[in-house]
Amino acid sequence: MDKIEIEGGTRLKGNVKISGAKNAALPVMAASILGSGESTILNVPLLRDITTMGKLLGHLGMGYHLEDDEAILQSENITSIEAPYDFVKTMRASVLVLGPLLARTGEAKVSLPGGCAIGARPINLHIMGLQKMGAKILLSDGYIHAKAKKLHGATIYFDMPTVTGTENLMMTATLAEGETLLENAACEPEIVDLANALVSMGANIEGAGTSIIKIKGVSGLRPLRYRIIPDRIETGTFLTAAAITEGDVTIDNCNPGHAESFISKLKETGVQIRHNSSTINVRGPLQLKSEDIKTMPHPGFPTDMQAQFMALMTIADGTSLITENIFENRFMHVAELKRMGADIKIEGATATVKGVDFLKGAPVMATDLRASASLILAGLAAKGTTVIDRVYHLDRGYEKIEAKFEQLGAKIKRIKV
Ligand code: EPZ
Repeated sequence: MDKIEIEGGTRLKGNVKISGAKNAALPVMAASILGSGESTILNVPLLRDITTMGKLLGHLGMGYHLEDDEAILQSENITSIEAPYDFVKTMRASVLVLGPLLARTGEAKVSLPGGCAIGARPINLHIMGLQKMGAKILLSDGYIHAKAKKLHGATIYFDMPTVTGTENLMMTATLAEGETLLENAACEPEIVDLANALVSMGANIEGAGTSIIKIKGVSGLRPLRYRIIPDRIETGTFLTAAAITEGDVTIDNCNPGHAESFISKLKETGVQIRHNSSTINVRGPLQLKSEDIKTMPHPGFPTDMQAQFMALMTIADGTSLITENIFENRFMHVAELKRMGADIKIEGATATVKGVDFLKGAPVMATDLRASASLILAGLAAKGTTVIDRVYHLDRGYEKIEAKFEQLGAKIKRIKV
């Protein structure tokens, strides 16, 4: 397992280019199942999760290869309707093939995603929606076996907004007979991106990005050629890196409109941010002010930025209350940050972060994708050397991350173990 070593104390300076959004590319890759032919997806990030999705689509009988940042997919022949546990256990987003497979072939057999470090993450809402559209669902031997001679439109209310649940059911509804209403749907920018990709295939979708999405079924969809939006979480991660190192960084190829809640919060801590439609300049202040956050579904503060914001608050002036409302166990980075001298107490879903003068470098361990990012940020700001173990978590969601930080002047290197 590779490690990453960081010599802290350098102020980041210069330009960094944001990659395509992992959480937009994954559902759009799954959507290619719906249209028979050759699909091309542009601005795809080179990440382990993308490779895993490509291998899974290959297992279903599709052709898949990457040419630079373009994913080319052939979906003429679907020869299997099964997504085995081996794929799903390495990437929960494999569940995104469930709806498209069912809509395309009338059957799908997908392994139930196991537990996950950050929470139970059930998929009961995905299953509820498919049943409302007429699917017969059998849960046995750790698999969801869905069958539907004919899918019909339905009104589906989500008890809580679910990103991949909204995506799975929106994809399924494009080929169901009649009209489907998704209510209390997730509003993330990745949902809008998927809807735009589906519409480019001939789907009839209105309201994506709001909590009510209307889908009118059509008889068939053509292959897609679609460019993925920039990654708003990677954008937020680099904004925080500049803030925590008193840096002066320009972020290119991003979409500030997708990171509004995070940019507003950062400004409240004293970070200077100016932006146009695709570039952000960020300058870290001499002294950061503590601010509170509560993670919420979009457009609220994103749970995927909670760990990074916490790293920033460890050296702010004052006390910050950080409440995680989306996942029940997304504070695993706290113990690691405390090893570096952070003063953090957890009570239920709220972490109380008392700012300290500085962090000290230490050996720490990554536990999940975004926690790994928060440890890099802490290491960049800490005095001394930080060595992060189990960085495979990082490689799932950040393309060439140490090269991007190195380009900004960070003293960071990967240790091949
Ligand atoms: C997506 O996960 C993202 N993954 C996650 O990003 C992100 O953290 C999450 O949305 C929240 O924004 C992808 O898009 C591939 P949810 P998802 O369904 O769809 C509960 C990352 O770092 N729930 O929106 O799995 C669930 O337990 C990853 O890139 C049910 O109860 O999340 C959670 O508490 C981590 N039943 C809440 O809803 C269901 O059927 C939100 O989960 C579905 C969800």
